[in-house]
Amino acid sequence: MTYEAKLGGFADHIAQGGKVEAEDWMPDDYRRGVLKFIEMHANSEIMGALPERECLPMAPTLRRKMSLAAKIQDEVGHAQLLYRVAEDLGKSRDAMYQDLVNGRSKFHNVFHYPVFHWGDVAIIGWLIDGAALVTQAALLDSSYAPYTRVLKRICSEEQLHLRHGEHITMELASGTQAQRDMFQDALNRWWLPIIHFFGPKSNVAKDLLLRWKVKTRTNEDLRQEFLDRYVPKVLELGFSFPTPVPTRAESGQWLIKDEDIDWDPLDAIKRNEGPETERRLTTRRDIYQGHRWVREVLAEPAVHAA
Ligand SMILES: [Fe+2]
Ligand SMILES: [Fe+2]
Repeated sequence: MTYEAKLGGFADHIAQGGKVEAEDWMPDDYRRGVLKFIEMHANSEIMGALPERECLPMAPTLRRKMSLAAKIQDEVGHAQLLYRVAEDLGKSRDAMYQDLVNGRSKFHNVFHYPVFHWGDVAIIGWLIDGAALVTQAALLDSSYAPYTRVLKRICSEEQLHLRHGEHITMELASGTQAQRDMFQDALNRWWLPIIHFFGPKSNVAKDLLLRWKVKTRTNEDLRQEFLDRYVPKVLELGFSFPTPVPTRAESGQWLIKDEDIDWDPLDAIKRNEGPETERRLTTRRDIYQGHRWVREVLAEPAVHAA
């Protein structure tokens, strides 16, 4: 069978809602696109553990510290699951790790920013995990079947993270003025990065991942769902939004105009010039080096086995 005939069969399969397994034939651009997408997701989970790790000493009680530590552990577990799925597409986990720590591959924009206080934990757990859940739930119907299987588990854990973040938010919102100020300060800093998180408007004609149904919805569609779900909740708690301020349309939808979004900070992050990019990559590189002895011991044959 010619390449063109195989490609035609694959396109029909996808158009009819068919799924793809790792061992199935797939066009090279499908394999490359899915690998890059899942690798970026995996990188984001492991890099996402770093800002929250920096917040651990700020936990107000032992129970809060324990629950945050458990959440961080979940995020590292998500990375582990995703790297395994990506690995089956032909790139070793070590190669993916080398590319990450040397700045050759990407991770989500929100993990390039600093954290200052416990209000950041509320925003990360509630709004950033909330944004991630909107995008990840949309991927549950992705054409790449191994990805959807791990996403089922990831999404159920993310639901718990969301409840965790919501609980901390409610505590701050119903607390003292200082606690409310803490949440508002974090919201002021994180709002624009959260809007960027969904990416600029999708180019449907050119986006291969949309064409191959790896992604099932456009960036703007996902951002709209997030705004409609969370903007009313934030306002109900009596907090306000910095620029870009969402406005309510007659339809009831919460809108942010494209021209109100400053994309420069996101462009800087794409060049690895985010506020914390260098420091976070250095931390991750140091951790990787520090754990080298564990990998070496595990790779050795079990010489003492009887
Ligand atoms: Fe996660
Ligand atoms: Fe999470």
